[in-house]
Formats: sequence, C-alpha cells, structure tokens
Amino acid sequence: MSMLPTITISKPAPIKKGAALLVAPEGADIAALAGDLDGEGVVARAAELAEFSGKAKTVLDVLAPAGSPASRIVIIGQGKPEDASEPGWIALGGAARGALAKEPLVTMIAGEDMDAAAVASFAQGYLMRAYTFDKYKTAKNGQNGKPKAQKLTIQSADAAAAKTAWRDAEAVARGVMLARDLVNEPANILGTEEFAARGEALEALGVETDILDEKKMKKLGMGALLGVAQGSVRPPRLLVMKWNGGKAKDKPIAFVGKGVVFDSGGISIKPAGGMEDMKGDMGGAAAVVGLMHALAARKAAVNAIGMIGLVENMPDGNAQRPGDIVTSMSGQTIEVINTDAEGRLVLADVLTYCNQTFEPRVMIDLATLTGAVMVALGQHHAGLFSNDDAVADGLTRAGAQSGEKVWRLPLGPDYDKMIDSKFADMKNVGGRNAGSITAAQFLKRFVGDTPWAHLDVAGTAMSSPSNDFNRSWGSGFGVRLLDRWVRDTCEG
Ligand code: BES
Ligand code: MN
Ligand code: ZN
Repeated sequence: MSMLPTITISKPAPIKKGAALLVAPEGADIAALAGDLDGEGVVARAAELAEFSGKAKTVLDVLAPAGSPASRIVIIGQGKPEDASEPGWIALGGAARGALAKEPLVTMIAGEDMDAAAVASFAQGYLMRAYTFDKYKTAKNGQNGKPKAQKLTIQSADAAAAKTAWRDAEAVARGVMLARDLVNEPANILGTEEFAARGEALEALGVETDILDEKKMKKLGMGALLGVAQGSVRPPRLLVMKWNGGKAKDKPIAFVGKGVVFDSGGISIKPAGGMEDMKGDMGGAAAVVGLMHALAARKAAVNAIGMIGLVENMPDGNAQRPGDIVTSMSGQTIEVINTDAEGRLVLADVLTYCNQTFEPRVMIDLATLTGAVMVALGQHHAGLFSNDDAVADGLTRAGAQSGEKVWRLPLGPDYDKMIDSKFADMKNVGGRNAGSITAAQFLKRFVGDTPWAHLDVAGTAMSSPSNDFNRSWGSGFGVRLLDRWVRDTCEG
C-alpha cells in the first residue's frame, strides 16, 4: 500500500536536521526568507543564478551550506499572494511533496502569507499527492524491511488554529483517498458484497449502516435495479450510511451514488477496447463513501444520509434483454432499450427509496452515467443538473472554491419528451443527441418535488489526468466538492 507521510503541525522552533522547506511569494527577498539556514548567503546566490523569482510551483533545491542545521533547503514559489486560493494551496502542497518525495525528514516553515486554512490546504495537497495504488506491484511490496514513512512537520506561528484546520482537512483527504482506493480496485476483488463491507467499516467512525439484500429489494419492488443485477452472479446490495451530527429534529441531506462494480454493458455489450475502465463505474458510490468518511471523521454538524446501489452489469443467460419492460419501485414502468444504460435504472430505485424513507431536504446523486458528458465537458468539469437553482448555485460555488469544478447543463420538457416510450411510461435511452441531458431527465422522474442535483462524473472520477495532487487513476472526485458544499451551505 501507499506509504503516506505523517504530517504534524508545531510552533516555530530551530530546525535541527533534515530538509527545510520554505514557501517564497513572488518577488520575495530570498536571503531574508532563508535567514539563519543560509549562513553564507549560498541560497540567495543560488536563487539569483537560477533566476528563481517565486513563480507558482517553481522549485529551488539547494544543498545546505556547511554550518547550516539543515541538510537541504528547498524553496517553492507561491506565486502572487493576491492569487492565493484553496486549490492553489493544495496544488502547491502537492508540488512540494513531488519535489521532496525521497526525503525522510522535512520541516516546513509557514510564512506570514499562510494562515491556518492555507496551511491545512497545503498539507492536504501534500498528503493526497503521496497517495499511490501499488498493492498489486509485487516487487515494491517484497522489499526487505519496512519502508519508513516520511515525516513532515509544518511550523506555524498560529499552530493552534492550523492544527484545528488540519484536523478537518486531513479527514477530507482521507475520504478522498478512500474513494480513490475503491475506484482503483479491480472488479474481481471488489464485487458488490465486498464494496458494501468497505462501506460498513465506516461504523468505526460512528456512522450507522444498513445493507439491503436482494430479498428486501424484491419486497420493495425495485424492479429497475434488480433487472440490471440479474445477469451477474454477484448479488445486488443497497448500502445506507447515516451520519447524525446535526440536531435530532433536522431533516437530513442525502447523497446517492451509482455503484456498478463492473459495467460490461450487459446484452448491449460494450466493445473490448477500454472495457477494463468499467471497473471504475462505481466512482459515484466511491465518492459517497469517501464523503461520509470525511463528514464523520471531522464530526460535521449535519445529518447526512449516504446511499449507494451496488450491482454488476453482466450478460449471462438470465440477463435482461433490450425490449424488456421493468417496474420501478416508484410504480413507473421502463422499457429497457439498451442494457448499457444501466446506471439510471439503478439510481431510479435508489433515489425513490431514499426519498420515501428519509424525506431529505435535498438529494444529490453522483454517477459515472454517460460517455456523452465527456464529449461535452472533457475531464475538467463534472456535469451538473438540478431542479433547484439555489442548490445548483451552491454546488457551482463549492466547485470553484474547492477546484472540483462543475458546469450546469439544462433540463426541460423538450428533453423529457425524448424518453417517452411506445410501450411503457418511459424508455431508458433518448437517442444519440443530448445523451447526458436525457439521462438526467430520466433521473428527474424519480425525485418528485425534492430539491435535487445530479452530478455526472464519468469524465472526472476515473482515468484522471495527473495533476499536482493526484497521480492515481481514480481521482476521488466529488469528496472535496461536496464536503465544501456541506460546510458552506448546510452546517451551522
Ligand atoms: N458507465 C457508462 C458511462 C461511462 C462511459 C462512464 C465512459 C465512464 C466512462 C454508462 O453505463 C453507459 O454505458 N452509458 C452509455 C449510455 C448509452 C447506452 C445511452 C454511454 O454513455 O454510451
Ligand atoms: Mn453502461
Ligand atoms: Zn455504467
């Protein structure tokens, strides 16, 4: 498993050994910044020679001069202080870890430009960058002796406030990494039951959990979800997670995730090229589990429900066929035109169950729902759909703040018509055009009047482009976005 650094925050103290890490705002006086670490002005001269000016994420790495208590002095550029932002600090922390990955002991001096929130975000990026998924690389795991975790100490003048901020930020980073683990894990290891068990483990943090099996789902009439599951030997599961951090009388907020542990397409089978990526078709469910971890670990002052529908979409002799008509828990009937449009069938019943059981004040679902959302937005925004402007605006703001960006796409009666069926109340695909929108219209038919938003994370949850704070295939997208949204719009 990945060797993550241990990160602690302390008051300023003289550095005795290891690497010293400093952050230089653009145009900073390097001699003043390095202070006692740079007895003979070597660092300042190195900065001059390298034309190091403190541009964001540029690195100056100098062997410490004789007499310096540190072995190495690493200065990373902050960029312009007026451009500072949460995603900026996270990226800077990630870049710093990239430059220092092999160093056993690092002491960072957080300057005046870094308040408690900046320190926490920096540390969060540092930790998330260190995440790797190499448990199946036998050579790495067979090393003699145990590799030692790197130690990072961040010295801050306001250590108490920074520690408090870091406690929350670390909870969120652990949630992100949990989601990454779930997405990266192959489907032969992480089936529906195994996934449910991983979610159940959140009980250690005070989360209440409940698992619905096939029998219970049949009784509830979840014909849409069960139709998808029937072509696999893996039994379906519905996992409910409850975090009761708010007042007893407060209605909960609810998060619903698509958990297709593998999507072969079913009888409408997918082409072979790239099909292995469909182990990540539970990225929405992974984000919900990661978010519940984050909320519980930081003891969020909110009542939150997490609910995920876990199925495998396979084409065996019992699989559902194109043309089949299923009855959803809501009573509405669905003509299955394409068995590869399975995520919406799963979510239809999970949304209905969530809405009926908990009457949440708002429901947000996350799903790797359509390839079309990648055509529209690429890998840098998730698609956002909502029946409520305030919810959509809140999520858009949280996206800009956290750096997990979303872009709202329209809904409307003209699109809704596209999924009317000749034989049933609706069909599960709306034709070639507007594929992400018709998928969202389908979901909308299962949420009633409850304020709701749908995030199509097919482009953002998996197969992620590497960046300063993520080198993993699974990104954990959605955890930071929704944690930020909960914090800014639901708590307190
Ligand atoms: N899981 C896929 C969507 C997907 C594609 C996620 C690529 C991540 C990467 C979904 O179940 C699916 O197959 N959608 C179809 C819908 C179509 C049949 C209407 C798609 O997007 O092609
Ligand atoms: Mn599919
Ligand atoms: Zn799918």
